[in-house]
Amino acid sequence: MKRASRTGGRRPVASVYRGTPRNLAMLARLLREGDLVAVPTETVYGLAADALNARACRRIFEAKGRPAADPLIVHIQSIRELELVAEANPAARRLASAFWPGPLTLVLPKKPVIPDVVTAGRSSVAVRMPAHPLLRRLLKLAARPLAAPSANPFGYLSPTTAEHVRHGLGLKIRHILDGGPARIGIESTIVDLRNPEKPRLLRPGGISRASIARVLGRTVAVPTVRLRSVAHRGVGQLAPGQLARHYSPHTPIVLHRRLSLAAASKSPLDEAWLFIRKQLKYNRKNIFWLDRTGDSRGAARRLFSLLQRLDEGTWRVIHAELAPDGALAEAINDRLRRAASRD
Ligand code: TXA
Ligand code: MG
Repeated sequence: MKRASRTGGRRPVASVYRGTPRNLAMLARLLREGDLVAVPTETVYGLAADALNARACRRIFEAKGRPAADPLIVHIQSIRELELVAEANPAARRLASAFWPGPLTLVLPKKPVIPDVVTAGRSSVAVRMPAHPLLRRLLKLAARPLAAPSANPFGYLSPTTAEHVRHGLGLKIRHILDGGPARIGIESTIVDLRNPEKPRLLRPGGISRASIARVLGRTVAVPTVRLRSVAHRGVGQLAPGQLARHYSPHTPIVLHRRLSLAAASKSPLDEAWLFIRKQLKYNRKNIFWLDRTGDSRGAARRLFSLLQRLDEGTWRVIHAELAPDGALAEAINDRLRRAASRD
């Protein structure tokens, strides 16, 4: 049953539910009736509504403070459902069977059942089949596709736990399904496949560009829009509404190609130093790392939760190191650059 309940305050506060059969049935009913439910996915938590109900989807934008021009991802329960919401093509089917359920989102021409509010008036729709077992059960019980952006206030770090969702949106929504900490920790990779001959990477994410290229047998282009005021080549304004400043903590972040342990060991104690790999020699309370061995999957898993924790502290600045290599380095560095951007 319910784990945490409403507080005695005047404003409603979200309840957090465990994934019992009874809770899932109740949350599925609420979704069918047009309510919002925050849901776990393997990437980050999402804020879900019935994707076929325009009014329900409009409430997502209100709760997040999200501009109406930023379209939502539609989550489906089976590969078969892809054909109901989008015009698929052979390249899309190949990627779907290779990576679904999983952290890959395909942008394709939309079918009329998807309301305009979901796609921000575009003729394309972003679709993914998530892997989290609780969300898959909920999709099945709700018996309809669910539109869901990340469950954070617009522009802030994406949530990887139910607690992050409650912290960020607890006063705006009523229901949060707890599925534990997100396994991947970083959002899905978005590929534009409207032209299957020319696949384009709109957002790096949980599946590497190289593995997508391998399955398609062709390279996946990265549109070269630069992030303003960021000194590195990055993927800029790609997916609509992906502003340069996105995933931003309140604490300023300074990026480094390599952090020096010697410098960190002499740094003022109001500066946090965030390494990719565990630093064995020094045990100072302002030195942090994302993964014991520096593995990019482990680093991705902890990225948002560690940034969120640091942001709750009183650090004057966070010095963060870019990921040097690994399958998810491109996605990690994209998020770090956006978090560091002050645009
Ligand atoms: O892993 C994920 O993708 C998570 C979980 C909850 O599934 N969702 C997520 O949603 O990251 P959101 O809204 O934070 O990011 C979705 C991105 C936005 O940048 C949006 O612009 C892009 O997808 N997008 C949605 N529809 C699109 C379309 N038709 N064409 C191009 N980009 C689209
Ligand atoms: Mg988001």
